[in-house]
Amino acid sequence: MAETFDTLLLGAEIVNQDGRAICDLGLRGGRIAVIGDLSRAAAAETLSCRGLTILPGIIDTQVHFREPGLTHKEDLESGSRAAVLGGVTAVFEMPNTNPMTTSAAALAAKVAAAHHRMHCDFAFFVGGTAENVEEIPVLEKLPGAAGIKVFIGSSTGNLLVEDDETLARIVARLSRRASFHCEDEARLRARLDLRRPGDPASHPVWRDPEAALLATQRLVTLARRFGRRVHVLHVSTGDEIEYLAGHKDVASCEVTPHHLTLAAPECYERLGTYAQMNPPVRDRAHQERIWRGVAEGVVDILGSDHAPHTRAEKDHPYPGSHSGMTGVQTLVPVMLDHVHAGRLSLERFVDLAAAGPARLFGIAAKGRIAVGYDADLTIVDLKRRETITDGWIASKCGWTPYDGMQVTGWPVGTFVRGRRVMWQGELTGPGTGEPVRFGEALPERG
Ligand code: DOR
Repeated sequence: MAETFDTLLLGAEIVNQDGRAICDLGLRGGRIAVIGDLSRAAAAETLSCRGLTILPGIIDTQVHFREPGLTHKEDLESGSRAAVLGGVTAVFEMPNTNPMTTSAAALAAKVAAAHHRMHCDFAFFVGGTAENVEEIPVLEKLPGAAGIKVFIGSSTGNLLVEDDETLARIVARLSRRASFHCEDEARLRARLDLRRPGDPASHPVWRDPEAALLATQRLVTLARRFGRRVHVLHVSTGDEIEYLAGHKDVASCEVTPHHLTLAAPECYERLGTYAQMNPPVRDRAHQERIWRGVAEGVVDILGSDHAPHTRAEKDHPYPGSHSGMTGVQTLVPVMLDHVHAGRLSLERFVDLAAAGPARLFGIAAKGRIAVGYDADLTIVDLKRRETITDGWIASKCGWTPYDGMQVTGWPVGTFVRGRRVMWQGELTGPGTGEPVRFGEALPERG
């Protein structure tokens, strides 16, 4: 008798750790059961995927979904709806909500609010502060925790650890890899007068490359002193890429599609405050050096830094305008367009957005297409030409810096643990998201 599966995906090109090949996938019990020729197998659901490409589920390790407290901008349901419409199967969400995610109770409340309501799988960063430093060894390993996140420079919200003494106390207590927003707060404060009212092009002048490099160097020095692993979020300068190349044993790093795609001064002329984020989008020279970091492997992963703000909040005159752009829904199409343009290979994209996050954060059974792994799949049409528009954006704030951008390459299907949650631009049911599991903090089921 033919082998039976829950779902058969037939005839797609699979992109995986051993390259690219046309074959079939059999899914059973939420996992990948067989990879090979399954033309004679039977299943409850069979999908012909000829002409399509299946990637391991894309994992976005930096999003702000604003719940609790700022749900006029986004919530866990709307943000995760945007994620799966864009082909993203799991997200790590940031702690600068209100209340902030800095305690076990706040984390548990987020996990409860997300469970089977979010459309993708999820983990939440816990903010590291002067107040919770003694609890860090417990907090970083709680169920649903992606680890500790520290703002060394201030951005949206009140999370901030600007002095080396507190930073050292936090780093010393880490056992998992922790993530850091690196801008030097003292330097930012000293340069506040460089902001030109009404001119967002002065944002990268105020928050200059030196502010980013200084904070990254301070962090890496502490990581080395205590022998800990640190992760530098949204690297915005060539200087940091070149510095981090000398410290790959202790420090990993992330870049965003924004810093790879938009560039000053053009983005500020065209988008005004809608291009404003922290750390800022800089000029082409920095962008080229970041792309070189992608090509040479210094960059470990991509994160969207999806940071939605309403139009009203973005429309305040600079510097009263809020910093941050949407990004979770556009990560896959924008990066596939870069693949189409030959700026990186499809295999490198998979490395940056699926295998890379799994490797850095020790995600259990995700990040590759392999038998026994979760059946998290991002199905794309590499040839499809589409225009990204504000109207497509599911985020509550309803805008994207890429409105009007023509791309080649589009997400057409999203599977999370074997369930088809998005197909051809439509959600197929209510949220079934669950916590991502990590090898360093597997739940006990005693
Ligand atoms: O521009 C930003 N916005 N950068 C951050 O680090 C935070 C984010 C937000 O939460 O709005």
